[in-house]
Amino acid sequence: MKLKTKNLLTLNELDKKEIEEILNNAIKLKKDLKAGIYKPLLKNKTLAMIFQKSSTRTRVSFETGMYQLGGHALHLSFEELQLARGETIEDTAKTLSRYVNIIMARVYSHDEVEILAKSAAVPVINGLSDSFHPCQILADLMTIKEKKKKLTGLKLAWIGDGNNVCNSMIYGCVKTGIDISIATPKGYEPDRNVVKESKKVGEIQLSNDPALAVTDADVVVTDTFVSIHHQATNRTKDFLPKFQVNSSLMKKAKPDAIFLHCLPAKRGQEVTNSVIDGSQSAVWDEAENRLHAQKSLMISLLRV
Ligand code: CP
Ligand code: NVA
Repeated sequence: MKLKTKNLLTLNELDKKEIEEILNNAIKLKKDLKAGIYKPLLKNKTLAMIFQKSSTRTRVSFETGMYQLGGHALHLSFEELQLARGETIEDTAKTLSRYVNIIMARVYSHDEVEILAKSAAVPVINGLSDSFHPCQILADLMTIKEKKKKLTGLKLAWIGDGNNVCNSMIYGCVKTGIDISIATPKGYEPDRNVVKESKKVGEIQLSNDPALAVTDADVVVTDTFVSIHHQATNRTKDFLPKFQVNSSLMKKAKPDAIFLHCLPAKRGQEVTNSVIDGSQSAVWDEAENRLHAQKSLMISLLRV
C-alpha cells in the first residue's frame, strides 16, 4: 500500500483506510513471526533511531523489527551526535538522508521532529515527542482489534493526564470510529487544537469524571501522571486518588472491558497492581504489538 504521507508525526497523517491496512498487515506479520516465517522485506534498508529521551519498548521494538525484516537499525543517542554540539537538525537530517532509508526520532519538542521531517529526504517517524506518540496508538488499535474483533462502534475511556499519548489516541479513535471519553483533572486536558479538529470527525467527550468516562467502556486506558518531559514533581497530587484506575473503577466499565497502558507504569499511582496484573489487562500484548505495528508501518512508509 502506498501511503499518502511521507512521515508519521502525529497519526493525523493517516486516513481510516490506511490505518486499517497497517493494522491488518501488522496482524499478518505477527502470525508469520509466530509461524517462524521471516520475509526480508526491508533487506539492505537502514533505520536511524535518534533518542533525546530514554526508552525501552520503542528502541527494542524498532531495532528488533528492522532486524526481523532483514534490515539494520542504528541507535543514535542525542548526546553522541554532533546535534549535542550545536549542529542543526536540518543539517543532521540532510546528512542522515544520504546514508539511511528511514529515520525514527524521540524528541522533547514536537517542533524538532517536524523540522527533521521537513529537512529529511527520507521518511521520518515520531517515536514520541512531548505532544504525540503515534506508534503507540497503532499498537493500541491493533490490540483492541485483536481483542474486540472490531474498532468502529466501541467506547474507549481515557483516564488521567491528557498527554502526548492521549493526543494521538484522540486521532486514532475518531479516525477508526471509536467513541472516546476523556476524564482529566481541570488543567490537564488534551491539546485544544487536536480536540477541536477531531470533534469534526468523531465522538469525543471531555469531563473531570472518571466514573462517567468508564461507564459502558469497552477499553479503559491510562498513562503515567508524570511524563518524561514534566519537570514538576507535585503533579501527582492533582490526580490522586480520583484518577487512579483501580478495580472499583474498572467495575463500572463493561464486564469484558480491556485495560491498556503504554508503559512504563507507576504502579500504585495511575493504576493498581490488581488492574495491571488482572485478567482484563492487555498491556503485554499491547507492548508486543509495538513490534508488529511498527514493522507494518515501516514497510508502508518505504512502499515495498
Ligand atoms: N511505551 C513506550 O513508548 O515505551 P518506551 O518509553 O519504553 O519506549
Ligand atoms: N506519556 C509518557 C509516555 C511514555 C511512553 C511520556 O511521555 O513519558
